[in-house]
Order: sequence, then C-alpha cells, then structure tokens
Amino acid sequence: MTDNFKQAAAEKALELVQDGMLIGLGSGSTARYFTEGVGRLIADGMKVRGVPTSRATAELAAELGIPIVTELVGQIDLTVDGADEVDPALNLIKGRGGALFREKLVAAASKRFVVVVDESKMVKQLGVGALPVEVLPFLWRLTAERVADLGVSLVVRGGEETPYVTDNGNLILDVTVEGGIKNARDFGVELKKLTGVVEHGLFVGMTDTVIMAGPEGPRMIGRESAGR
Ligand code: 5RP
Repeated sequence: MTDNFKQAAAEKALELVQDGMLIGLGSGSTARYFTEGVGRLIADGMKVRGVPTSRATAELAAELGIPIVTELVGQIDLTVDGADEVDPALNLIKGRGGALFREKLVAAASKRFVVVVDESKMVKQLGVGALPVEVLPFLWRLTAERVADLGVSLVVRGGEETPYVTDNGNLILDVTVEGGIKNARDFGVELKKLTGVVEHGLFVGMTDTVIMAGPEGPRMIGRESAGR
C-alpha cells in the first residue's frame, strides 16, 4: 500500500513539469517514481534536463534518456525529492538513503522544492527516527564525540568495521535525539558549527510544497498553509 501512495504522490508532482525545465531529481524509492515519470515525458517528446542528487539517480536518469546536468550556473526550476520525516511547518529529515548532502545542494539551488511522501512520513515533531549526519572519514571518531557532546546518542551507519560510504566518500552518523528535536533550526546550526561535520539531514525552511498521499489520494500542502 505504501508503495502505491509513494507512486501517487510522485505522479501528482509530474503535473508540475513543463517543457524546457531544468529539474532536480531526488533519491530514494518515492523520487524514483518521479524520475521514471520524467523519463516517460521525455519519451513523449518533452524537452527537460535533470540534475541528479545521487549516483543511483544519475544512473537511472541515464538509462531513461534524461539529459543530465552536473555543472550549474543559475537556478534549477523545480526539484522533486522524498523525505524521511515531515513536520507541520514542512521542515524535513532527509538522508536515510544516504544522499542528503547532494540533495540539500540541489534543493538550495531550486526555485521550487517539492517533497513527495506517503502519509507515514508526517510527524508532529522531527526526530521520531534517526537524523543522518554526514561526516568526513578523517578523524571521524573525534567528530562523533563532538556530536555526542550535544547530548545525543549515535551510531556510524554500517558499523565501524564496514561503514557505509556516501557518494562523496564520507561517513554517516545516525543520530538519535531523546524526546525528539525540539528546535530543528537551532539544532541544525549547532551541528554545522562542529568541525568534521559535512552536512546534516535537517532541511529547515526549504520546502515549498509537500505532496502527501494516503488512502484519499495525493494532497498538496503549500508553505503558506503550513503555519510558518
Ligand atoms: C535519501 C532521502 C530519501 O528521500 C528519503 O530517505 C526517503 O526515501 P524513500 O522515498 O525511499 O522513503 O533522503 O537520502
């Protein structure tokens, strides 16, 4: 069922694609439905180009015949990506698929950032699950100690023996905040201050629209109606 909802949200987002657009292509299973849809639009004659947020998405886009842009001057017209958690103000946790750094770069370069999710991703407060934090491998244990000093618990993704390595050659710390993340903006700022932290999966104030799908079909939630 969840997969149907993911697909429904992604299909709704395809309605926003227009001829000539430069499109940010997200990562993960929900964004994959969107990228596949863009491939169909191209097969039908639409002219768009894509900026992939991960190697996996770049490979998929190439298979689907989507022209890829990786060097960018100016802005991306529209980016569509998934999320792990969405709060009532449309702030996000992203990166459980490991692509958070490129995803944030692409979202930040976009005129419109649209998030596609199934209803299970909606939360009252971020931090229900782990927050991914990308760190440099060099002296990463010291970085992990600095992060832990913020009063959180953490694990290195994949374990110390065979850690997961991101597309950027970095590691991911999965950070658990007991009781949830009370102030996502402040917590993100604290994380970014730490030497060795490359990026974190808190996307605060970046989302323009969430397309959330459940049994009643896809619903668009705009930033105006999100109480910000
Ligand atoms: C990858 C991400 C994904 O967008 C997020 O994990 C959601 O994935 P899915 O659509 O498979 O549930 O942030 O880094």
